[in-house]
Amino acid sequence: MSETCANIIAKQLKNKPNSVLGFATGSTPVGTYKKLAENKTDFSKAKTFNLDEYCGLTKTHPQSYHKFMMDNLFNHVNINKKNINLPNGTAKDFNKECKNYENLIKKSGGIDLRVLGVGGNGHIGFNEPDSVFHNLTHQITLTPETIDANKRFFEKVEDVPKTALSMGIKTIMQAKQIVLIAGADKKQVIERLKYEVVDPRFPVSILHYHPNCTVIFAKNI
Ligand code: F6R
Repeated sequence: MSETCANIIAKQLKNKPNSVLGFATGSTPVGTYKKLAENKTDFSKAKTFNLDEYCGLTKTHPQSYHKFMMDNLFNHVNINKKNINLPNGTAKDFNKECKNYENLIKKSGGIDLRVLGVGGNGHIGFNEPDSVFHNLTHQITLTPETIDANKRFFEKVEDVPKTALSMGIKTIMQAKQIVLIAGADKKQVIERLKYEVVDPRFPVSILHYHPNCTVIFAKNI
């Protein structure tokens, strides 16, 4: 899964060195990022926009998504640090920050290739079940389910932030190409995705409507 995804990203960068890439955090893409670093994939002209960031965590907080991306990918490839974008979880005005983030994506020409993981409940980014499909980047209240799933990264469950800034489903769908990666732990999600119709109660199902979306499963699914 990681190798296939890393190869798709490398091919994209080879064809268009100044590609705009969308990245995700979480455990699923870690192997992909490792491969990209190992293969010395050329990011010198690339620009990136991550999906989301927790509200209230500084860029250097051990559990911030910014720090995750630096540790797992950006510190190991030749990306120009000025070309790295994540929503600012400590912005004074979150609405303004979200609008600004959307404008930056637009100004960059839009996302060429977006990597996605999926939550056990079908969330993409932090777009939880029952999210509307037309949302752009916005502040989101995390569900108890997601807080529970993410507590493994924090000392205690109370430390998990309650809100996050996340690209909306519309922002995600605007990417020209999407690659969804899912490990063996997402077997049920992928089964549901295969057979269920598009339904806001299962946000990842919207990908059925994307004209250029690839789903990559781990080998043992
Ligand atoms: C991460 C993100 C989330 C994760 C999802 C799966 O930026 O937006 O939607 O992709 O929660 O997480 P893992 O890969 O840890 O199972």
